[in-house]
Amino acid sequence: MARIIAGVSSSHVPAIGAAIDNKRTEEPYWKRVFSGFEKSKAWMAKTKPDVVIGIYNDHASAFSVEMIPTFALGCAAEFPPADEGWGPRPVPVVKGHPELASHIATSVILDEFDLTICNKMEVDHGLTVPLNLLFGSPSTWPCPVIPLAVNVVQFPPPTAHRCYMLGKAIRRAVESYPEDLRVVMFGTGGMSHQISGPRAGLINSKFDKAFLDNMVKNPKKLTQISHLEFMREAGAEGIEMVMWLVMRGAMDEKVDEVYRFYTVPASNTAVGHIILENKKRAGTAKHKRAAALRTNRDVRRGK
Ligand code: DHB
Ligand code: FE
Repeated sequence: MARIIAGVSSSHVPAIGAAIDNKRTEEPYWKRVFSGFEKSKAWMAKTKPDVVIGIYNDHASAFSVEMIPTFALGCAAEFPPADEGWGPRPVPVVKGHPELASHIATSVILDEFDLTICNKMEVDHGLTVPLNLLFGSPSTWPCPVIPLAVNVVQFPPPTAHRCYMLGKAIRRAVESYPEDLRVVMFGTGGMSHQISGPRAGLINSKFDKAFLDNMVKNPKKLTQISHLEFMREAGAEGIEMVMWLVMRGAMDEKVDEVYRFYTVPASNTAVGHIILENKKRAGTAKHKRAAALRTNRDVRRGK
């Protein structure tokens, strides 16, 4: 049976990607950002997930503004980098996992979350920058990645609570997939930032740090943050943080915090990052119980 072993959140600032692509990571400004991900890369190299599910948002680069799905699941075999205005980033093509992705689509849609199924899709910095931050710059990404794009570019985005509940539905989907896969969920975007208008450059470290604390201790409190509060406290683009809650919803209620990092700024954005693991023992026991319950239910239903 597949299971979610860990969740990773990180900002996805496009300028971080540009710093990598233009070999500027050693400059003091960027070194401060990248040095915060050294431990994360070591953790990832040790964790070696079989699959990553990457929750990110498209920035009107692959989808344009003609069609804006609220939740779009990448079911294709591969996802080339999108042209974001200066050519596609020179990063490897993201290879998907069509079998697990179509299983997730089936399970989650029948669970009453209406995903858009994407059989052809390009991915922008929202996904590829966090991949760089966690995997470095290999010639191919070390594992398949299933992208799940969330609309945070045009009002109304999904609520924080809806995102958290989607995470739970994804977990149910993963745990009903028969192959033994170790899955890591990424939640990308944030933290506080606003890139245009009179409040451009807004950063609210107090809000961000409380958000990081509650990602560990009290995610339910975060599900109550309204769109207006995100906008007021974390700037117009702070709403990207709802994507962290998809990841958090897929995790156990109680998690181990493996690592966190926060620095200000990268471009216009506060960079926040956290790695959470499901508790190994409790997770395993809970897992077995859930699997037994499912088996009993299926037997009762004659499946
Ligand atoms: C910036 C950050 C983002 O998350 C984004 O999508 C675009 C720009 C920035 O800080 O410049
Ligand atoms: Fe963004």
